Amino acid sequence: MTDLSSPTDRGVRVVAHRGASYAHPEHTIEAYRRAIADGADALECDVRLSADGRLVCVHDRTVERTSDGRGVVSEMTYEELSALDFGRWKGDAHRGARVLLFEDLLKEALAADRPVGLAVETKHPTRAGGRLEAELVRVLRDHGLADGASGLVEVMSFSRTALTRMHRLAPGLPAVYLIERRVRPVRPPFATHAGPGIDLVRKDPALVGRLKAKGLAVRVWTVDEREDVELCVRLGVDTLITNRPREVREQLGAR
Ligand code: G3P
Ligand code: CA
Repeated sequence: MTDLSSPTDRGVRVVAHRGASYAHPEHTIEAYRRAIADGADALECDVRLSADGRLVCVHDRTVERTSDGRGVVSEMTYEELSALDFGRWKGDAHRGARVLLFEDLLKEALAADRPVGLAVETKHPTRAGGRLEAELVRVLRDHGLADGASGLVEVMSFSRTALTRMHRLAPGLPAVYLIERRVRPVRPPFATHAGPGIDLVRKDPALVGRLKAKGLAVRVWTVDEREDVELCVRLGVDTLITNRPREVREQLGAR
């Protein structure tokens, strides 16, 4: 990603995981506004397709954990999802939060008074059979962001299939290959970043150097603890994904 906002003094970029989701309900406009106010360089969001083809920001396959409803996201229409409360599970102060359309998140980021990036993770790519990627590219194209020239958008996935589909549709977008438990030997050749989880980095710190030696930028998720931030800085990690963008930026000495 290109230079998006004031860098931290230690040269590490900070991406807000599902928004400022430590204190606010994840994937809500409230969490993302907080993350922008807290100085996050970019916003991470998980996207799924509703039954009527709308791209919504929801992490889980079902709505149970983060709303007052029941059901599978991809089997519910946007109208059905919009009737649910996506804030109350986090406390009464957050009551009334609604499901967020990816396009509305995009507009919010673009309206900020400084460049704010979007790190978009596609969920359940195989089930949607390419429709999700097609809709994501359509929305990005509508906002002039699909060619990657703005440097504001990147795509992330654990699925090589999903990244390959995205790359065919929008080859200019940076691709982050997420790594959960082990380093898979075959990474997409076009990947620009590798995204190991912090558990993996704790177990195998030399992994960061090995990935960088392959020419990949390294971003680690989800880094909320002070000692993990220090570890990542020591190892030369380029980007941290965190639920606590303000605290992490402060620790990194953000200007
Ligand atoms: O940013 C990568 C990270 O979000 C992947 O894990 O489960 O939080 O989507 P998950
Ligand atoms: Ca995610």
